[in-house]
Amino acid sequence: MDSIDNIKRVGVIGAGTMGQGIAQIAAMAGFKTVLFDIEKAALEKAIKSIEKNLEKGIEKGKVTQEQKDTALANLSTTVDIDEVKADFIIEAIVEDLAVKQKVFAQLERINSDRTILASNTSSIPITQIGAGLENPERFVGMHFFNPAHIMKLVEVISGAATDQKVAQVTKVLAEKLGKVAVMAKDSPGFIVNRVARHFYVEGLKVLEEGVADVETIDTLMQSLGFKMGPFQLMDLIGVDTNFSVTTSMFNSFYQDAKFRPSRIQQQKVDAGHHGRKSGKGFYNYE
Ligand code: NAI
Repeated sequence: MDSIDNIKRVGVIGAGTMGQGIAQIAAMAGFKTVLFDIEKAALEKAIKSIEKNLEKGIEKGKVTQEQKDTALANLSTTVDIDEVKADFIIEAIVEDLAVKQKVFAQLERINSDRTILASNTSSIPITQIGAGLENPERFVGMHFFNPAHIMKLVEVISGAATDQKVAQVTKVLAEKLGKVAVMAKDSPGFIVNRVARHFYVEGLKVLEEGVADVETIDTLMQSLGFKMGPFQLMDLIGVDTNFSVTTSMFNSFYQDAKFRPSRIQQQKVDAGHHGRKSGKGFYNYE
């Protein structure tokens, strides 16, 4: 698949916070899109949320009824990974190296060796995920931002083995999905998450030390012009996902203290307070 013209069918693995938005824009851009998750309930929730997003788009005059109908007609769902046969597959499941490697090995087995495999990982080096593959040259990082159907930026990350033609096709695909693609080097957290990590880590430290509460920290950061404070943002991202990203970066940078995960955040994760998606996080959404 060295040319964008050969990409007709897109697979999206994981129908959570990110997978649903990615599937939406792929279907809207005219690709036959198959969305896979191990949980049937996650797929049902994803379709509802895509329908809601498209409806909102119509209300705002940004999406036409025809675009909505085409997008929904292009979209299918499955809980059977063997049905995910596509020209370009984007993975958006838990931020865990071993789980991702297992899923990619399965995808590689059932797909042609021309299929491009991409990960939406926030922090795990692409070279590491690709190391377990038979064709790591066809594996690339394609990092969207949340909400994926709205945020314009996509980081395209080449691992040590990634074929540059594959990276180029990924960039063009991102553009076809209405995004601005930036080529990033393979390093833990890439560009945005590495710089932004301190926004969360330092916010959590200020909270842990009792310097200020959640609302005060968020309000002050917003008053400086940030769209959201760190706790509002963690609730949007998913407190569990954000915690996994920090933990992954802490380990990748040889336990560098500046990336140390917070106990307060660990507790939220243990309690199932994962943010907006679970109804409760640093704030209550119930
Ligand atoms: P999420 O927790 O909202 O959703 C993950 C989905 O994957 C769930 O529906 C779960 O059932 C499914 N899943 C878990 N294991 C699976 C498996 N083995 N096979 C298939 N499906 C499986 O996670 P989220 O937030 O969408 O994150 C997914 C990936 O995207 C992570 O790598 C994360 O770092 C990255 N990411 C997250 C962003 C965010 O703001 N939440 C932003 C950019 C990237």
